[in-house]
Amino acid sequence: MRWLILALLPLPALAFAQQFPPVDWMTTDPARVELGQLLFYDPILSGNREVSCATCHNPAQGTSDGLSLGLGDGGIGLGPERRADPANLPEQRIPRNAPALFNLGAAEFSVMFHDGRLEADPTRPGGIRTPLGEDMVAGFTSVLAAQAMFPVLSGDEMAGHYSENGIAQAVRMGFLSQPGGAWDRIAARVAAIPEYRARFDAVLGQGAEIRFT
Ligand code: HEC
Repeated sequence: MRWLILALLPLPALAFAQQFPPVDWMTTDPARVELGQLLFYDPILSGNREVSCATCHNPAQGTSDGLSLGLGDGGIGLGPERRADPANLPEQRIPRNAPALFNLGAAEFSVMFHDGRLEADPTRPGGIRTPLGEDMVAGFTSVLAAQAMFPVLSGDEMAGHYSENGIAQAVRMGFLSQPGGAWDRIAARVAAIPEYRARFDAVLGQGAEIRFT
């Protein structure tokens, strides 16, 4: 089929298409993708249940935030209209804007963040170098999956301030990967929702433990 399409292209277009090597995509299971999509739009992953991944990676803004410096917890509105909530001011703006997320599932993306602080590194036990070093549990299928562990820990992005909720308090005390730590608490919130439980049962197996990883 692909060759048929190429054969039908005019010659200059054919030469253009041949400049690019085929893209290697990670394989996906549609049931997992759907579950991930639901979680991406669900503010339950944020300490105060107000900010979802899509608040900053907004499809209407090309999966970015439309701001010079982002606003997570303590912000109201979306896109360029998003502003600090006078009733719940954030401590600071996010020091960077949210990059678009298109195509990051292609295998060629082995480095994440503007400054590359999360990177595939086969010399590490978990295969990935992260800002958390070895405290971060192993077992990620990709750098993209590992990256998703971080926004929920940032007070100004998703966790909120330490006086406001148990997740922010766990982060503040440095309890991240242990039982009762921030990731564990978020996973427990998700597991407590029957619709999520049923979807996780379908992809992980009946009754399998739901962990943030
Ligand atoms: C408050 C805004 C905000 C929220 C909420 C947020 N992000 Fe981001 N995201 C950012 C910013 C800002 C960066 C860039 C940070 C950097 O490079 O230091 C980023 C970077 C990323 C990247 C790396 C992109 C690249 O090309 O390197 C991914 C992937 C990502 N976010 C996914 C998520 C997921 C998944 C969630 C939800 C669990 C989420 N983000 C929630 C603002 C946000």
